Amino acid sequence: MKEKVNLLLLPGDGIGPEVCNPVKKIINFLNNFTNIEFSVEEDLIGGSSYDKHKVPITKNVVSKANASDGVLLGAVGAPKYENLPFDLRPERGLLKLRKDLDLYANIRPAKVFNALADASSLKQDIVTNMDIVVLRELTGGIYFGEPRGIFNLNDGQRKGINTEVYTTNEIIRLGRIGFEIANLRNKTVHSVEKANVMESGVLWREEINKLHSAEFDDINLKHMYADNCAMQLVKDPKQFDVILTGNLFGDILSDISAELTGSLGMLPSASLGEIGESKKRKSLYEPVHGSAPDIAGKNIANPIAMILSLSMFFNYTLKNNILSKLIEDAVEKTLENGYRTKDIMQDGRNLLTTTEMGDKVIENLKILLEKNEL
Ligand code: IPM
Ligand code: MN
Repeated sequence: MKEKVNLLLLPGDGIGPEVCNPVKKIINFLNNFTNIEFSVEEDLIGGSSYDKHKVPITKNVVSKANASDGVLLGAVGAPKYENLPFDLRPERGLLKLRKDLDLYANIRPAKVFNALADASSLKQDIVTNMDIVVLRELTGGIYFGEPRGIFNLNDGQRKGINTEVYTTNEIIRLGRIGFEIANLRNKTVHSVEKANVMESGVLWREEINKLHSAEFDDINLKHMYADNCAMQLVKDPKQFDVILTGNLFGDILSDISAELTGSLGMLPSASLGEIGESKKRKSLYEPVHGSAPDIAGKNIANPIAMILSLSMFFNYTLKNNILSKLIEDAVEKTLENGYRTKDIMQDGRNLLTTTEMGDKVIENLKILLEKNEL
């Protein structure tokens, strides 16, 4: 009997659809060669949804996402939507999906592939073997806190407000995932906030300390201010294992960690919620990179972040770490063989299009699967 998996694919805008194409091919390939039977439904999000439905995500898509075993998302956003009212912008579609599915734990691994250690903007010895996970809180903090808005003042000025809010439960449920991830890795958590200036940061630190002593005192816990963390990431990134942080700091620190690996085009992410009726956690997988409108439609974008997002789906939702690892190994092998997309191109390597990169990864996946006799 084949294991049935329902996937919702939301390619979105810009390079989103292009980087999703290789993933569709990989899924077809896996349908033919493994024990898994994917049924994939495709729908709209972001600007592409706005163009058709005048909203960046429809209720129908949110309920499909809720009913699926997992969502794979390309990217959202394009310059032509920048003047729309805030609530209609492409990004709101993604934020709504994260919030409605309560996908509070955003896992962003930043791992340097050996074949790319010389592609980082940092000196090679600083990043070789770097392997970090940024765990970002995704449904709270200043992204969603109230009050928010732009208000008129009596003297004719205007005031823009966003509010950083965290509750005990929000901190604890994320902290628990952070310690659990660290437990499977190098057992070190850096909890990052600005407790020197923000009360929400003081609470964050106190709750993480309590959780640590109550349940995870075998994990090495360190606290770090967010500004220092940004500096330490470019100074000595290998001191980190798991960085546990809020929504806004996580947004920034994950972009920094991503760039350390050589290209934002390499980095996948998983956003996890609570365990649903299907006994699977609600989940959404997407590259850390955005819609890159400047290169959209040229078939030159790097599909690896998207492919690795599929690999994370196997690991975190399907608990199939064999297939997850095989997909990662197929990517690694392709890089070792000297194949590169434009963003990671180096002298003497072979430049591939998005489509070709996907096909090479599938070739390697086929070889690895045959060896594994799954
Ligand atoms: C990210 C992006 C999003 C964010 C945008 C597109 C809403 O930058 O996933 O990091 O700020 O969370
Ligand atoms: Mn971001």
